[in-house]
Amino acid sequence: MSDYKALGDLERRAFVDQLNFFCHPSEEVSNPDQLMGRDRALNELRDSFETNGMNSFVWGLRGVGKTSLVHTACAKFSDTVRLAAAVACEKGSSSNDLLNDIFRRVVKDGKVDIKDKNLAGKLSLYGLTLSGSGGKLRERVEIDSVNHASDFLSTILTADFERRRDWVIVVDEFDQLENQDTIDFFTALAKQISVDKLPVKFVFCGVAANLNDLIGSHESVDRYLKAVELKPLLDGHIIDISKYVAFNMKVELHWGQLTRIAQIAAGYPHFAHVIMNEIIRAAYEQTPDAIDISAEVYRFGVQRAASGAATRLQNAYDAATKKGTDKYIEVLWSVADGQLLEKQFKSIRDDYARIMGARADRKALSNETHFRNHLNALCKPSHGSVLKRGKVGWYKFADPMLRSYVRMIAFSSDMDLGEESFEN
Ligand SMILES: Nc1ncnc2c1ncn2[C@@H]1O[C@H](COP(=O)(O)OP(=O)(O)O)[C@@H](O)[C@H]1O
Ligand SMILES: [Mg+2]
Repeated sequence: MSDYKALGDLERRAFVDQLNFFCHPSEEVSNPDQLMGRDRALNELRDSFETNGMNSFVWGLRGVGKTSLVHTACAKFSDTVRLAAAVACEKGSSSNDLLNDIFRRVVKDGKVDIKDKNLAGKLSLYGLTLSGSGGKLRERVEIDSVNHASDFLSTILTADFERRRDWVIVVDEFDQLENQDTIDFFTALAKQISVDKLPVKFVFCGVAANLNDLIGSHESVDRYLKAVELKPLLDGHIIDISKYVAFNMKVELHWGQLTRIAQIAAGYPHFAHVIMNEIIRAAYEQTPDAIDISAEVYRFGVQRAASGAATRLQNAYDAATKKGTDKYIEVLWSVADGQLLEKQFKSIRDDYARIMGARADRKALSNETHFRNHLNALCKPSHGSVLKRGKVGWYKFADPMLRSYVRMIAFSSDMDLGEESFEN
């Protein structure tokens, strides 16, 4: 790290390159040094990589770091596995679409030798010709059965006898699939490649609150598919992310600033990246020669992070709060206030009172019925169904990342939504 220069010594281009290397809100981590708090999950994937016939399913909420975990595991355990292709599912993807995506990716990344006459011969049986020096593919392969798909994979992905590494195919965003046939096809294919002893492993990733929702409960699933669950990160690990970025950019944040970022992020590493990115950009522009991040730079950074957050979150927030009145804003803040992901009506109402008490220039909803109506409206499609009702009288965010976004907005409007949990 000693090669890296202090902010003020960096030309803009070098600064941007260095920042993007350490801090990437929209790009997954693949460098083991940058993956915080995932030792247990990495070990689970390693065990699955080392077990013959075993595939994996990484599941958890959006933004917790599934894609990052898988890519980092492939880099870290490169003695055991190598990445053949990573593809992402879309709503209408068929098994054929995905197999073609996988094949194109394998060819494009140079994972097969396109000059290999033997391979060319085998592929021609599938109606495929590799043409030109870039190995461009004009045809689509049509694969009509799970057995056929297994044969096809064994044709393109040959064993590495020397180093005995298996190929990994990442099928990401599995939850997007609406076509049950595609889901069934891939779970069956994972089993078939185990039976056929191919040197290939699937790693599926998907957003889910419960794995059975995603793949259904086949009895034999456990034998060839290992589930790796990812929970939001603990605050200590979010702090590690911010500290790592700060250390490598040669700036320092004090403890209060670091814990505040963790409170906003509420377990979602994306927010630590977004906020650090903006803080360090602000520091580069405003205080390039200082080591310590000033209160002004910090606040400016968080504000910029809030205004530049993912459009998905901004849209959801706007859909919920911009409804002819601005009264929904603090109602939503009061659900995001404090440590609990799911809150009872009474505590939401009490927190609302506290928040409104601190905002002298804003007028609170006049009575409890009014407040309840606003809260319930936030559960309806007319407000983007941003909240969900659980047990009677309990409310939570439908998308926990939106909760973090709301915390960031509140903070950038000078409202602190309190502690997260700091257990480790
Ligand atoms: N363990 C981690 N340590 C540091 N940063 C992480 C970690 N996991 C994810 N990230 C960052 O968080 C963001 C979201 O991660 P991603 O892997 O895309 O989540 P998911 O696939 O679950 O939606 C990315 O910016 C990534 O760089
Ligand atoms: Mg992902």
